[in-house]
Amino acid sequence: MNETRDLFDFIAASPSPWHAVQAAASRLQAAGFVPLDERQTWRLAPGGRYYTLREGSSLIAWRQPAAPAAGWRMAAAHSDSPAFKVKGAAVKSGCTLLLTEGYGGMIRASWLDRPLGLAGRVLVRAGDGVEARLIAPDRDLAVIPHPAIHLDRALNDGHKYDPKADMQALFAPGEAAGSYKALLAAEAGCDEADILGEDILLYCRQPGATAGPAGELVLCPRLDDLACAWATLRGFLEAPEKEEGVLWCLFDSEEVGSGTRQGALGSFLPDVLAAAGEALGQTAQDRRRALAASLLLSADNGHAIHPNFPALADQDHPVRLGGGVVLKFNANQKYATTGLTAALFRAVCQRAGVPVQDYYNRPDMPGGSTLGNLLSTRVGVPMADIGLPQLAMHSCVETAAAADLAALHKACAAWYAADLAPAENGWAIG
Ligand code: CO
Repeated sequence: MNETRDLFDFIAASPSPWHAVQAAASRLQAAGFVPLDERQTWRLAPGGRYYTLREGSSLIAWRQPAAPAAGWRMAAAHSDSPAFKVKGAAVKSGCTLLLTEGYGGMIRASWLDRPLGLAGRVLVRAGDGVEARLIAPDRDLAVIPHPAIHLDRALNDGHKYDPKADMQALFAPGEAAGSYKALLAAEAGCDEADILGEDILLYCRQPGATAGPAGELVLCPRLDDLACAWATLRGFLEAPEKEEGVLWCLFDSEEVGSGTRQGALGSFLPDVLAAAGEALGQTAQDRRRALAASLLLSADNGHAIHPNFPALADQDHPVRLGGGVVLKFNANQKYATTGLTAALFRAVCQRAGVPVQDYYNRPDMPGGSTLGNLLSTRVGVPMADIGLPQLAMHSCVETAAAADLAALHKACAAWYAADLAPAENGWAIG
């Protein structure tokens, strides 16, 4: 299968975190995974395949271990990307605008002058209750236009984009403020009066594309972190049968610090592990042994050295676009990788023939963070932070290399397939 095409399909189906979870769920269902509702009693069989959602925007899928003290092989990625959340419509200067609030740390200028779509969930009155309905109309609906260069000659001298003024989206010429709610109602299949709430994001409508003499470059919105979500999910679905449990997490809220009930700092993963253990008749001893025999790969994109801005990279460890999977290190533990987990990941990749590149922030720059070290405070499992090297992280359209996508998928599959068992002073690799 053409991996880049498969990734583009996954990302096109994932304009919002809720849709990313649905795109993952449909692949899981096709592979025989059974959906479970957190509000119901779960009956889990050894070796059974399950998944559950939280808030509709995070998902954990797993295959039950065969024994109560068996460890877990896990990977995690995030479902959210920087975006603009819509907080209604208003008429200004004779135009109808969608009023926005920024979500996460996007490169603001990259959102201007592009066709934008709307996606998310509408909460609809249903009988005496409330029902969530996902909407993502398949058409261009808004744009955030620049001012003309003639009217602002300083625009190329480093314009500061003001979120309250510059980043509101043009929805219609003229007064059509009511048409926003009407659109939501039409898409949700309800009366406007029955819309009780909504979580709607603007998203970039540009489809994934390849560039370069032989299509070596991949340009696509939301590569961070849907590329890692896609690669870890593919690896998870390809995991061979074994005594260990295998588990895959897709967390929302990473771009805003993970501190939500559905985020990596919430209780989602500990709750699922507890339920899975209880079904196996796990004792406290079993639980301690199982966690100590577990490993988790936290997968989130990393920065390749930028040919136009090489000085921004750590010159001693430049990560090359097309040079393989990134293994991230940070002495201050913004990344969860340790010497031990790095060694294990390298050993697995060496066997699989996947090139690995070490990433460090430039020593005088704090860099970003991800969900690995936060998650490790919730479940005390050894973790490594890895990812896809890319350029223009948090731009509306991001750039990566097709060769690295294939390498990332191969590394994730090898991670789930590898025979790793705790041994004295380390791990045995079978
Ligand atoms: Co990310």
